[in-house]
Amino acid sequence: MSSSYLSAASEIAREAGALLARYFEQRVAVEYKGDFDVVTEADRASESLIVSRLKSRFPGHSIVAEEGFGVDRSSEFIWYVDPLDGTTNFAHGFPMFAVTMGLEQAGELVAAVTYDPLRDEFFSAEKGGGAYLNNRRLQVSRVSRLAESLLATGFPSRKRHGDVNIYFYHQAAMLTHGVRRAGSAALDLAYVAAGRLDGFWEFRLNAWDIAAGLLLVREAGGCYSDMHGAEHHFDSPELLASNGLIHRELLSLFGDIFANRIRVPLPALAGGPAQS
Ligand code: IPD
Ligand code: CA
Ligand code: CA
Repeated sequence: MSSSYLSAASEIAREAGALLARYFEQRVAVEYKGDFDVVTEADRASESLIVSRLKSRFPGHSIVAEEGFGVDRSSEFIWYVDPLDGTTNFAHGFPMFAVTMGLEQAGELVAAVTYDPLRDEFFSAEKGGGAYLNNRRLQVSRVSRLAESLLATGFPSRKRHGDVNIYFYHQAAMLTHGVRRAGSAALDLAYVAAGRLDGFWEFRLNAWDIAAGLLLVREAGGCYSDMHGAEHHFDSPELLASNGLIHRELLSLFGDIFANRIRVPLPALAGGPAQS
């Protein structure tokens, strides 16, 4: 039964969320993992709390966590943990971040929690049991036309060179009500589940960013694939999640962009050539 896993994950995520909120209040020093990728003491403290709690409750389970506490994937059960999703926001005092954990059993996502401690918003889902925000059952939005949708995306902090997402961003921003870039993929997906966003895409996310969010979206009635419409796996290079109703229209737009058929050209810079 996954409900005992969900209740353990809920307790742990709330505890980690409270810890993050305390650090956020004090402000923490920014450290670098590469040229631009930031990390803070709060990321490490949250991960260490979550990993020690999970290990003592489920000693046989594998844990894959962003800051490196676990890499073993040998168990039937794997916890994907992002102890702080939205570190750049957190480090700048921008109030948009979460702790997120997803549990996979024999290759299937079975339990998910994403907790935003500043808003006290607790998103949770169990396979076959629906998705919830606090005690309210979630349902994806009913927006059925891309032109009437609100979307979100993200850009990597690492490996930015060669990232083509700006083309997708531009097209989508011109053809919808808008595209948000709030800085937490876990919350972006939770917001699709909650019907606050109609779709979300991003290149090169990691399993810990999205494990919980994928189950939230699916249990709220939405769907996901890669950006070509194929089944999404954690090692897929990109992710598209939506309310289901605009999925085909998004895939068709993305298909055009991948094939270099630009629907809305970028305006020319003074003196520079227009994009064809
Ligand atoms: C990042 C956030 C961001 C996304 C990046 C992720 P982190 O996670 O989810 O929204 O655009 O790709 O790496 O580094 O804050 O845990
Ligand atoms: Ca993350
Ligand atoms: Ca993180």
